Amino acid sequence: MSCSPRDSEGQLDYRDPLIEENLKKISQVILITGGKGGVGKSLIASTAALLLSRSSNRTGLLDLDLHGPSSCLLLGVEGRPVESGEGLVPPVVEGVKVMSIDLFSRGRPLPLTGRAKEEIVKEMLALTSYGRLDYLLVDLPPGTGDELLTAAKYVKSNGRALVVTTPTHLAVNVAGRLIDILNSVSLKIIGLVENMSISDLQSPSRELARAKGVAFLGGIPLDPLLNSRGGSLERCELLSTRFAEALKQVLRNAGLRV
Ligand SMILES: Nc1ncnc2c1ncn2[C@@H]1O[C@H](COP(=O)(O)OP(=O)(O)O)[C@@H](O)[C@H]1O
Ligand SMILES: [Mg+2]
Repeated sequence: MSCSPRDSEGQLDYRDPLIEENLKKISQVILITGGKGGVGKSLIASTAALLLSRSSNRTGLLDLDLHGPSSCLLLGVEGRPVESGEGLVPPVVEGVKVMSIDLFSRGRPLPLTGRAKEEIVKEMLALTSYGRLDYLLVDLPPGTGDELLTAAKYVKSNGRALVVTTPTHLAVNVAGRLIDILNSVSLKIIGLVENMSISDLQSPSRELARAKGVAFLGGIPLDPLLNSRGGSLERCELLSTRFAEALKQVLRNAGLRV
């Protein structure tokens, strides 16, 4: 692990060895990132976690969208983390171990500034006891803020970013900046996925991937069912959507075992 033992102000952090110990037990950490909000990061993170778990992978989901956590709602998480000698054991849904700030804030909004967010991300990484996992998916807020940069610092050896965009020029433009930041902090990129794809022929995301030297993992079509009922579907309904079918192919293209 190449995580720095010092924080942004150069102080030693007592949580770093704990985080290192936790992450050592996880084969692959996949950060679901995107420049814009509303491009489908959370839906992709939650659905991918269900698909990976169904394929017999030991899977965890860490929701680091501190202002807008969605995983508990999307997956219908009802349990609570349980304290153990090893840390906080997350509730399990369909085999997926889910940790989210929502399990503590219970729907209340959190007014957090930069430093507080960095602290919460470190606490979640240090205190969550996922045990051994094949995959840990990390759902992130849009952009390149504290949540992404703090997580990225710790997952250099086993982490890669999946970049989600949509076929709009606005989303693709911001995704380009995100890719530049990911490169600047030396976080590997697993590839770019175009969600809510309309046409295979006209895909600005594919062009962006080519221009940035990033793998294009495919498109996921706009699914009218999700458009109207995203967030309120049962888990089995979610897994039988066109969205889930296309996502499975994207994950396979990325070399994941689904
Ligand atoms: N392929 C798709 N087709 C239709 N609706 C989608 C698709 N992907 C995501 N959505 C919907 O878009 C909205 C935003 O998705 P979400 O995952 O919350 O985005 P983000 O996490 O990037 O902000 C949700 O209502 C979701 O159901
Ligand atoms: Mg989200």
